[in-house]
Amino acid sequence: MGKVLVMDHPLIQHKIGIIRRKETSSKDFRELVSEVAMFMAYEATRNLKLTDVEIETPIAKTTVRELEGKKMAVVPILRAGLGMVEGMLTMVPAAKVGHIGLYRDPETLKPVEYYCKLPADCGEREVFVTDPMLATGGSAAAAITMLKEKGVKKIHFMCIIAAPEGVKALTEAHPDVDIYIGALDDHLNDHGYIVPGLGDAGDRIFGTK
Ligand code: PRP
Ligand code: URA
Repeated sequence: MGKVLVMDHPLIQHKIGIIRRKETSSKDFRELVSEVAMFMAYEATRNLKLTDVEIETPIAKTTVRELEGKKMAVVPILRAGLGMVEGMLTMVPAAKVGHIGLYRDPETLKPVEYYCKLPADCGEREVFVTDPMLATGGSAAAAITMLKEKGVKKIHFMCIIAAPEGVKALTEAHPDVDIYIGALDDHLNDHGYIVPGLGDAGDRIFGTK
């Protein structure tokens, strides 16, 4: 059974408070999304597997613990998930990056797939899917289904803001997946937007509205 963890670290809460403000510029929004992802990566990678390695310091031989060979991949859901990649890579620079393109049909709110490019060895890696928003949960659930079809076995989902409806849908669709959430909001409005939320994450990151 996967876990659902809402981050309560003061630095994360403070930065999310700024991200939510409607007057926050795209530049600041992008930087803060990346910083929040970096803090979240610290917690989300807590259980990565380590292996013993013999090394020599300038003083003596010793055993240190390093991450196992095939480690992790970060897979953003395009577009908005891209905003969390740099923060993740700051913490784990050796991670490979895959991309899944999905957009939410504004009428049906159902995800529509348009792109999928993953590391060739993704089946051997622990995959961290990123998307700032978990609203109905349709996009996250579809992305994770795509990863499982490609043979990925261990999957984590990281979002900055989640609606309770999305958490429920995602845990029901993929009970084995760990979910890391920056802030758990109140509800979805009639257009499928998270309340209070932050608006359209993709538009705010890329300045398209
Ligand atoms: C947003 C967001 C998620 C999705 C969440 O993407 O980044 O991918 O909606 O909604 P859901 O949980 O109801 O599926 P959007 O479709 O707006 O695409 P974009 O990132 O390209 O703007
Ligand atoms: N996608 C967004 O970008 N924001 C929401 O509130 C819901 C879906």
